[in-house]
Amino acid sequence: MNKVEALVFDLYGTLCDVHSVAAACDTRFPGRGREISVMWRQKQLEYTWMRSLMGCYENFEKATYDALAFACRQLGLELAGPLQQELCDAYLHLAAFPEVPSALKELQARDLKLAVLSNGSARSIDAVVTHAGIAPYFDELISVDEVGIFKPHHRVYELAERRLGVARSAILFVSSNSWDATGAAYYGYSTCWVNRARGCFDELGRSPDLEVPHLGRIAPALHAAVHPA
Ligand code: 2OP
Repeated sequence: MNKVEALVFDLYGTLCDVHSVAAACDTRFPGRGREISVMWRQKQLEYTWMRSLMGCYENFEKATYDALAFACRQLGLELAGPLQQELCDAYLHLAAFPEVPSALKELQARDLKLAVLSNGSARSIDAVVTHAGIAPYFDELISVDEVGIFKPHHRVYELAERRLGVARSAILFVSSNSWDATGAAYYGYSTCWVNRARGCFDELGRSPDLEVPHLGRIAPALHAAVHPA
């Protein structure tokens, strides 16, 4: 792996737990929260990919809003009146995974540039990292809105390289979404896959340079890469 000067993080599912919305869903649809949040997330991602392919970009908040409508219809649940917006607002208040603040603090202390690169809109990213209490760790919060297409399109990874002023070869891209780490690897970043669920990496022709079970393992892994035993 090349020398790392900046770490660029995916947001949803990597720094913050998208399934923390299950609690809000559960209060409205008792016993169905997790099922809703799983289908909601899957459709949200599919809508971003399809919109990118079809060339009809609408921002992530719209994908989130529409995906919730689909998930509830599919599950036979009535999403009446203001409830759709109320549950979408819960997506602005996701919880950070427990180790995230201390892991970011440790990486920041190593003089690395830290950034978020997310499919979220600028407003969503700002709301989520502020609510999760992790905003002070980042030099840049970068939204795909600026390029009008979603990850894993190469223009998005290019945007972070440009905004940070760091060559792609010196960027470590960190994501728990293996399709996202794959897109970053094709662009030329080094990649770190956060495999909390002990899943399998996608079969898309690239492997991550690092694999960690949670963010707290990144600093030691970087140290080991620079000072092999
Ligand atoms: C992101 O934060 C969608 O998880 C993805 O960009």
